[in-house]
Amino acid sequence: MINIHVTDADGAKKELTAISGSQLMNTIRDAGIVEGTCGGMASCGTCHVYIDENWYALTGERTEDEGYMLESLEELVEIKATSRLCCQIILREDHDGLSLTVGPQI
Ligand code: FES
Repeated sequence: MINIHVTDADGAKKELTAISGSQLMNTIRDAGIVEGTCGGMASCGTCHVYIDENWYALTGERTEDEGYMLESLEELVEIKATSRLCCQIILREDHDGLSLTVGPQI
């Protein structure tokens, strides 16, 4: 199991557990923290998170669709260098301990 440390949009800290090979978004959505409206297709932006700097490199490169989606969100919310759509992150065992903050809700 992979432990994920999540700070939600209200600043509350939660610890979630996830399975290797799953979309990070599913775990956070199932905990009721993000909506994940598009089901993980990088087309709604409701799963925007800020990955803690220490973990960002381990989450890999943004996908092309993710980059476009984040660009379109820039008018609504702050996009940081560590912004990701968590539906585009597939969890691995070395993500155990991953820490992130949920972005402002749109
Ligand atoms: S769930 Fe819609 S962009 Fe991630």
